[in-house]
Amino acid sequence: MFEQVGVHREVYGNGENLLVCGNVMSPPEEITNLAGQAQCVYLDPPFMTGEKFERTRPYGEKGWKKGTPVVRFKGYEDRFAGEKDYRKLLRKMVKTSWSLLKPDGVFYLHLDWRMAAQARIICDQVFGKNQFLNEIIWSYESGGRSKKFFSRKHDTILLYARSRKYRFDITKVPLDRSTKRRNHMARGVDDQGRLYSSIVTRGKEYRYYDDEPVYPGDVWTDISHLQQRDPERTGYPTQKPLKLLERLLLPATEPGDLVVDLCFGSGTTLEAAQRLDCRFAGLDANPEAAAIALSRLKTENLTVICPCGKGKAGLVTEESDGRFFMGGLETDNPAFPASATPADNLEAWETGRIEEGVFYAEQTWRRSFRYPELVQALKTDPEQIRAVMTTDAAGIRRAFRRSEE
Ligand SMILES: C[S@@+](CC[C@H](N)C(=O)[O-])C[C@H]1O[C@@H](n2cnc3c(N)ncnc32)[C@H](O)[C@@H]1O
Repeated sequence: MFEQVGVHREVYGNGENLLVCGNVMSPPEEITNLAGQAQCVYLDPPFMTGEKFERTRPYGEKGWKKGTPVVRFKGYEDRFAGEKDYRKLLRKMVKTSWSLLKPDGVFYLHLDWRMAAQARIICDQVFGKNQFLNEIIWSYESGGRSKKFFSRKHDTILLYARSRKYRFDITKVPLDRSTKRRNHMARGVDDQGRLYSSIVTRGKEYRYYDDEPVYPGDVWTDISHLQQRDPERTGYPTQKPLKLLERLLLPATEPGDLVVDLCFGSGTTLEAAQRLDCRFAGLDANPEAAAIALSRLKTENLTVICPCGKGKAGLVTEESDGRFFMGGLETDNPAFPASATPADNLEAWETGRIEEGVFYAEQTWRRSFRYPELVQALKTDPEQIRAVMTTDAAGIRRAFRRSEE
């Protein structure tokens, strides 16, 4: 028999990286303790769109195999009483980011036409005007087009350095010169057969060889928003593409550096950091974001600090000689399909142990588009399974402990 219990953190491996649920207006100490340690902070806060976003998630084995059924949930709300409230949040986010950075670290703030100008003023005040490096225009084609004015087809990403001695290596993000638009330059082939474009200025010839890289400028048109059916999509609203975060993080970090995102959402920044062998720490006010981010991260060396989901649920298990069978979860979430089965209610589960309110994970199984089926039967002495952590299809995480009968 397992009983549902509360845990205040979950630890995987050495627990070094962090996923924290909390509000940036009063950041938890796990985040403030990182002051002066981050090499790069990226922020993609609400844009003040006034929207209430919806979130979707595949449901059960069929959903993860075929893309439907999906369940729909309330996402985060991008609503503020007024610009004053929004500016207050933004200022707090920027100040917190500033304090987290190492002296040679850099900061990105991702916004759109609504608040980018106000953000620039706030960043100038917090970082100092001289620390402004550039604003990147991320241009895309998705979304509708206006007939009343030129369509709004870009986001603005502000880039600031913590000090003039910042670290940034643009040679880590070379672009293939041959894919770049050729302008008025003349084309030629040299003695070795290498193709180039050239221009003569004040009697001097400048050659740009096709086989030499070119580095990105500040208008990016080569990264699109995620398409509806992109396998990268998590169903979390306003998810950014990994390719964008990789381009931002690569020049700003080295393996082992700490990357922080104070609004991690679906966890794009954290996944990009993990792919670059960086350490990471993420904060988000939405507890479901933690479950979504967790589902896309390698659960190595991670601590999750997020309250367990409220609401009782029953763990369905069977135990027989040398075999433990995880039958799923009994929950009465009205968002789940009427045909909901305990097994389909489950998106992931973990075995481990609980000590003083901390769940130490040992093994994890989760659905993915690649592996829609969940491992359910374990060949093990059932008594060895002391505690189980579950994630249901709504992203609610619950801990269960074997009760001493
Ligand atoms: C634009 S989304 C981030 C999306 C993310 N970059 C991604 O790729 O999935 C903004 C996030 O900010 C979070 N957020 C809003 N207000 C917050 C606050 N006061 N403290 C922490 N997070 C907040 C929301 O829950 C939401 O997940």
